Amino acid sequence: MITKYYLIIMSKLILISGGKGGVGKSFITANLAAILSDFGKDVTIIDGDITTANLCVQLGISSNSVTLQEVLNGSGKLRDSLYEHPSGFKIVPTDIGIQKEDMDISDMIELLIRLLGINDYVLIDSPPTLNKDSRELMEIADSNLLVTNPELSAVTDCLKTFKIAEDVGTHSLGIILNNVRNRNYEIENKDIEDMVELPIIANIPHDKAVLKSLNLKSPVVHSYPYAKSSIELKKFVADFIGEDYEPPADIVCLIKRILSQ
Ligand SMILES: Nc1ncnc2c1ncn2[C@@H]1O[C@H](COP(=O)(O)OP(=O)(O)OP(=O)(O)O)[C@@H](O)[C@H]1O
Ligand SMILES: [Mg+2]
Repeated sequence: MITKYYLIIMSKLILISGGKGGVGKSFITANLAAILSDFGKDVTIIDGDITTANLCVQLGISSNSVTLQEVLNGSGKLRDSLYEHPSGFKIVPTDIGIQKEDMDISDMIELLIRLLGINDYVLIDSPPTLNKDSRELMEIADSNLLVTNPELSAVTDCLKTFKIAEDVGTHSLGIILNNVRNRNYEIENKDIEDMVELPIIANIPHDKAVLKSLNLKSPVVHSYPYAKSSIELKKFVADFIGEDYEPPADIVCLIKRILSQ
């Protein structure tokens, strides 16, 4: 039997997918990268959304680094493009002015292979739509993490993304259920798992700290380490890579949260 850890060890190039826009793919990508870096892993992230890239904007990156586009068209070197984010991970900045006709996802393959040689993990933030680009990225990836919210349209797109992954032979590691408010109008976990036929491997609550961290251009796990979302994300990543993580006691988190408001 293929164990969970075997799959994770074999998964170095992970697509953070999900289908629907706005479910939290970029938020999850940045925070997983920050936590993996805290655990001593070398991580590089890439914005797979080459038409409406915004990961760099979310992370406050306006560097003079060589861009993804320049590496791909040969006018810049990969080593000059790697921007070291204060959170510990690296990112190949995507020029937000890039037009679709300038680039093709398939051009990224060589770059990704080179990145894999110098990283423990390469995370790709998938574009929202289920189009040619997201399908090609799915094909390139070793595995994929499906991000969804507990609402019907998001879960439906998550299922479609899972089917694409199956179609192209890419393993789906599980569902990250994000922005959960625990309201009775939300789809229940069991129904989501039954619909997609995949387990929910992380359950991240709706959290104002996420929105505040976006303003600070810093992953929530660093700007608000005691926030509920941060604790859940850290628990998930530790379990994902087989590291020990003892979350602080609830009362400690509560006091730290009050003090950080
Ligand atoms: N757990 C959460 N709690 C509160 N807000 C959240 C949470 N997760 C994401 N958000 C907010 O939802 C918005 C959309 O998140 P994000 O940009 O990461 O989604 P996305 O899936 O990458 O969107 P797109 O498909 O457009 O790229 C952001 O404002 C983000 O801060
Ligand atoms: Mg995004």
